[in-house]
Amino acid sequence: MRKKIVAGNWKMNNTLQEGLALTFRIIDLLKENPADHVKVIIAPPFTSLHPICELINKEGVIHLGAQDCHQEKSGAFTGEVSSDMLFDLGVKYVIIGHSERRQYFNETDALVLAKAEAALDVGLRPIMCFGETLEQRNSGKHLDAVKSRLENSLLKINPTEIAHVVIAYEPVWAIGTGENATPQQAQEMHAFIRTLVAEKFGKDVANDISILYGGSCNAKNANDIFSQPDIDGGLIGGASLKAEEFVAIVKAVYSI
Ligand code: 13P
Repeated sequence: MRKKIVAGNWKMNNTLQEGLALTFRIIDLLKENPADHVKVIIAPPFTSLHPICELINKEGVIHLGAQDCHQEKSGAFTGEVSSDMLFDLGVKYVIIGHSERRQYFNETDALVLAKAEAALDVGLRPIMCFGETLEQRNSGKHLDAVKSRLENSLLKINPTEIAHVVIAYEPVWAIGTGENATPQQAQEMHAFIRTLVAEKFGKDVANDISILYGGSCNAKNANDIFSQPDIDGGLIGGASLKAEEFVAIVKAVYSI
């Protein structure tokens, strides 16, 4: 049985004190409403990871992710953070290839693959993100666009490691716009991704891999989106910054 996952990508939001307060509140709410079969992850900025990790280690309930890592183990890369450093801190997951990294930091599929491999090498689980632009969707090329990204990165992962990968489908046009993919649009893409994974790695791997949806997901639309058969949870941006809303999304997954 594949895991249900709800992950909060805080992006470049929250000071340390704000992040600790948000984490406390999420943990409290989850203790009141246990969601045992949903894995809940938060991905704060690098600057808050260590104190939040200590809090999570004490309280349990949720898991820690980072938003990016460098592809090299160490070296002269001013400003960068390696997968080793994250693992050493207690981080378990790392978001790789988010469309904002591709758009603003020129991350290519080859780099996304290298970063995912660097994460897997040290025992971190990469959450690898894929999605099409509005132009690709409007011209009916959304499946081809995502397929090409997968072929150049995810489908090149070592078969012995693929079981540790989480996939996130995040249509670029739905991120932060208030316009989510319809449950049918998301389901079509998730089923397509799962088919490609099955062709490359086999049916068992494809059945077990979690594919999350991300893009303007909120407490109102979560239930409709997550009740689709190939949608195993969400990667949540804006709505993960409010504890009540985020936990409502977790509960939407839990109730399915
Ligand atoms: P929003 O939920 O704010 O649309 O962001 C989604 C996202 O980018 C998560 O990684």
